[in-house]
Amino acid sequence: MAIKEHVQQAINDQIQAEFESAYLYLAMAAQFDQKGLKGFAGWLRIQWQEETVHAMKFYDFLLSRDGTVELQTLKQPEVSFDTPLEAFQEVLAHEQYITGRINDLYDLAVAERDYPLQTLLHWFIDEQLEEEETARQIIDDLRLAGDANLFVLDRELSNRQPEPEA
Ligand code: FEO
Repeated sequence: MAIKEHVQQAINDQIQAEFESAYLYLAMAAQFDQKGLKGFAGWLRIQWQEETVHAMKFYDFLLSRDGTVELQTLKQPEVSFDTPLEAFQEVLAHEQYITGRINDLYDLAVAERDYPLQTLLHWFIDEQLEEEETARQIIDDLRLAGDANLFVLDRELSNRQPEPEA
């Protein structure tokens, strides 16, 4: 089934949003690195990789449908946090924004009876649930740890490994 023009546009917009997510997390990683919090920085670097994987899933999907990939300009990430807690609150807010976008895309796929896109989006719906849950967990851990144990949490986050598909 050929992909409809406006569905293709919405997927290209989502490719942009995923790459902008990657860019945001990479900018955050750099700030953590500068603060000497290598574990947080490493965690965010892996998140950067994961976001590029997300973008490429949509990219490959469009190509598999004989669609046209049109890469768009990425906006400069605005990163302004003073504490790790603020940073991860920003991560959670960003993921909630992305979840909203995925839900809108799913609504479009249903309205257009685009079944292959619905199937692809099932993966993203599960992924968003996981990403929000992880951000919430880190926020809880940061609150419990307090400043005195930040170092311990930083070391713990340094254990994150890239997922197999990343
Ligand atoms: Fe690709 Fe973190 O959403």
